[in-house]
Amino acid sequence: MIRYLTAGESHGPGLTLILEGCPAGLVIDFDQINYELSRRQKGYGRGGRMRIEQDKVVPQSGIRHGKTLGSPISFLINNRDWKNWQEIMHPVDEMPETLTGQKAKLAYENTRPRPGHADLSGAIKFHHKDLRNVLERASARETAAKVALGAIAKQFLGQFGIEFASHVVRIGSVELAECDLALAEIRELSEESEVRCVDSATEEKMVAVIREAIVKKDSLGGVYEILVDGLPVGLGGYSQTDVRLDGKLAAVMMSIPSVKGVEIGMGFETAYRFGSEVHDEIYYDKDGPKNKGRFYRKTNNAGGLEGGMTNGERLVIRAANKPISTLYQPLDTVDMLSKEPAEAIVERTDNCVTPAHCVIGEAVVALALFDVFLDKFGHDNMDDIRAAWQRHLDFEI
Ligand SMILES: Cc1cc2nc3c(=O)[nH]c(=O)nc-3n(C[C@H](O)[C@H](O)[C@H](O)COP(=O)(O)O)c2cc1C
Repeated sequence: MIRYLTAGESHGPGLTLILEGCPAGLVIDFDQINYELSRRQKGYGRGGRMRIEQDKVVPQSGIRHGKTLGSPISFLINNRDWKNWQEIMHPVDEMPETLTGQKAKLAYENTRPRPGHADLSGAIKFHHKDLRNVLERASARETAAKVALGAIAKQFLGQFGIEFASHVVRIGSVELAECDLALAEIRELSEESEVRCVDSATEEKMVAVIREAIVKKDSLGGVYEILVDGLPVGLGGYSQTDVRLDGKLAAVMMSIPSVKGVEIGMGFETAYRFGSEVHDEIYYDKDGPKNKGRFYRKTNNAGGLEGGMTNGERLVIRAANKPISTLYQPLDTVDMLSKEPAEAIVERTDNCVTPAHCVIGEAVVALALFDVFLDKFGHDNMDDIRAAWQRHLDFEI
């Protein structure tokens, strides 16, 4: 139903993003989009780049007087750092051969691929002798564009009472114990925390372990959780590979740089338990909301998805991100051209980005849900979609 594309190098002039398939008549809150962008930039363990950038969207098309037209929406996000990189990243002008100091290093010394990054495979794939031609686009700077796109999806879903929260549940060896807070509370507490952890004692330990990584010139990954309430039953499908919502969610989550694992609900743990301990038994409440009956569960081990479809319970997705690949204490590598042993490139880098992952995860999940929502309820304009959604809610089996 929707298609989106992003373009732009990390230190180029900026990012470009296009969203096609957004229905007409959606009121867009630009401050909210910029707020989401600022959330991505925060978190203890981010590097110096985030102090330079103050991401904001520059709307280009598809929106008139604050409302979507149904035509492709496009935005720019300008890179403030571009002014420092013009000689190295200019789209037209040749790179000067006379750069000195740090600039010369960044310009001419890009032949030592970092383990864990796209560097070496990208260079071999595209026949690049300068790793900057790979790393500039493989950089997670691109995720700013995804967050802006996701902000539109969240605004659309918000019209139908669908709400998001996310929080960090592990950094390195430090893990949050059980969390059974309400969605609003998780949102509030994680927003206040510099590592997006809802428990202040665990937060302290997480900050300490990140600090330890910084001191050791090392990096850390973590685990985070995306939660979505208010989803109607039946988004997604079970009849083909490409309609299953669990598949779509896994794909978008795994496409976030450095995500190495995704779980829905009880996830991997389901494999270690008996069926009677896993499946969420079904009950019926004759006196549900608005004097209508409703099916419900007492547990949510399925994480809101059964048979590739939403089942009306909270959507629960967990993802694990590996530690950052650029290390200030560089790992062993081989110089691509001389084939001699070498130390990997060191660029200005983050140490831990799990808190930022939460915001990116919310965005890509919102885009996947936006897509299946439009598939179920129509996609041209908000009036038709709202009517179809209401009909679905009023339906009694
Ligand atoms: C928000 C965010 C910021 C990141 N910042 C850095 C960074 O500063 N330095 C770095 O080496 N990797 C960074 N990464 C991770 C790399 O993008 C990732 O290691 C790389 O894409 C290779 O991972 P992959 O094999 O999962 O694609 C960041 C990832 C995210 C999501």
